[in-house]
Amino acid sequence: MTKTRSLFFSIALLAAPATARAADAPLPRLVQKDGRAALLVDGAPFLMLGAQVNNSSAWPAVLPQVWPAIKALHANTVEMPVYWEQLEPKPGTFDFSVVDTLVTSARKNGVHLVLLWFGSWKNGGVAYTPLWMKADPAKYRLMLAANGRPVGSASPFSVERLEADKRAFVALMRHLEKTDRPHTVLMVQVENESGTWGAIRDFSPEARKAFDSPVPADILAAMKATPSSPNATWKEAFGKNADEYFHAWAVARFVGQVAAAGKAEYALPLYANAALRDPIAPGPPGSWESGGPTDDVLPIWKTAAPALDMLAPDIYLDDYAKVQKVLDLYRRPDNPLFVPEISSAAAYAPYFFLALDHGAIGFSPFGIDYTRYTNFPLGAKKMNEEALAPFAMNYELVAPMMRQLAQLVFDGKVHAVAEKKGTPVATMEVDGWKVDVRYGLPPFGFGNKPPGNPEPVGRALVAQLGDDEFLVTGFHCRVDFQTGAAASAAGKQRQYLRVEEGTYKKGKFKFLRLWNGDQTDWGLNFTSTPQVLHVTVGTY
Ligand code: DGJ
Repeated sequence: MTKTRSLFFSIALLAAPATARAADAPLPRLVQKDGRAALLVDGAPFLMLGAQVNNSSAWPAVLPQVWPAIKALHANTVEMPVYWEQLEPKPGTFDFSVVDTLVTSARKNGVHLVLLWFGSWKNGGVAYTPLWMKADPAKYRLMLAANGRPVGSASPFSVERLEADKRAFVALMRHLEKTDRPHTVLMVQVENESGTWGAIRDFSPEARKAFDSPVPADILAAMKATPSSPNATWKEAFGKNADEYFHAWAVARFVGQVAAAGKAEYALPLYANAALRDPIAPGPPGSWESGGPTDDVLPIWKTAAPALDMLAPDIYLDDYAKVQKVLDLYRRPDNPLFVPEISSAAAYAPYFFLALDHGAIGFSPFGIDYTRYTNFPLGAKKMNEEALAPFAMNYELVAPMMRQLAQLVFDGKVHAVAEKKGTPVATMEVDGWKVDVRYGLPPFGFGNKPPGNPEPVGRALVAQLGDDEFLVTGFHCRVDFQTGAAASAAGKQRQYLRVEEGTYKKGKFKFLRLWNGDQTDWGLNFTSTPQVLHVTVGTY
């Protein structure tokens, strides 16, 4: 932090009572109940309507191209990298000026931050490590392949590298603890897609020795492995998966130590993100980034890196069944679901609703800024308001009721669906009601059953507010309540008692009008306009 900035900051703290009050706000933290999770911000559940900037966009000079995109998206949280090469230009010398600018600028723009520690691993490589480390590979060792050649990925057995990473991460967390009193920063990601591409594990002498040693008992237990000997080596215990499991353990242990050291300074929620493997047909080990928190090794990561609160999937899988499977795999009683990256391509926008159905605490399309770079074909072809629109409608709809929805998700009251291509109807069971969602509106408003949208852009959400009372919303679909099995068997039929459209203002639902007649006779029709209903249903 420069002198001027630090002076400005302390004056701002002293002068502004609102900021000073915020200084007493509790730390953001994760809580769990009945297998569900919430991120508490200022003491109440908070839903991160996130956006991640492009890799090279977290520089002060680029921020003017960031904020307009964030605004257009209606995001409340921005994920921005902190670059080790910038933070520690000389060993032990730290420059916090960029981080400080990110934090003050985010605050000024009314959003929270998730900082991404681009440290020892960035997409499995060492690109963001400082020059002085790159210049000294004898000290800061890289991995060795089986044939002895160096691999461009950090050796998780390099003690020097681990100590350097810990020192830098500790400095970052200590600095945030001292300076970010109003808690603009909600969470920190430790490394980025750690693991290794192109090599299954480290073959350095230290790694070979560990590989031929007994698997730690807690790892055997976590993987429910019962080898014939409790002293089984990795190969003996895990056979063809041994190399990958071993690398996952080694990388998780490293990242877990960095996380623990940082957390001891400042106990913000911490997580690691995963370059996913195909969750349905993964292929053999080596077909995906080895060592990262992929679905097959989540128990290893949970055991070896307990300081990480979450293991989080980066979703670039253009397939409904795969996305659904990933959400299923990463939502675990021991793992709050958070989607730190998802493709910015339009097809991925409805998955926000699927994520809510899975109890997600946040969701974040990647590459959100107007620097004109796009990671197409992973993401949208162009990044502009048109590309943002399918995501922006989600956040515009949810932002005014974000706190209510976060609480409802935490209470297990939210059910939501996203359209699957070729499947024009979805059904949800909600509190004894059968809720049919038919995709495809307009022009199928009156009478006819919507046949599905030309592209699968439909999405719907039903949250239970009370007995037979529901918050209902969606896009490009018709939602209709039907009596459930028991009521149907008793000859009962559904009637809408009251359908109120309203808007959320300061946490309160403000009545606008009643829907009735054509607006309810064939079901509740949602177009591309953000509309929220409070619906009371009964039977006759
Ligand atoms: C996933 C990484 O985590 C991001 O930083 C970025 O490199 C994308 N892949 C690709 O654009």
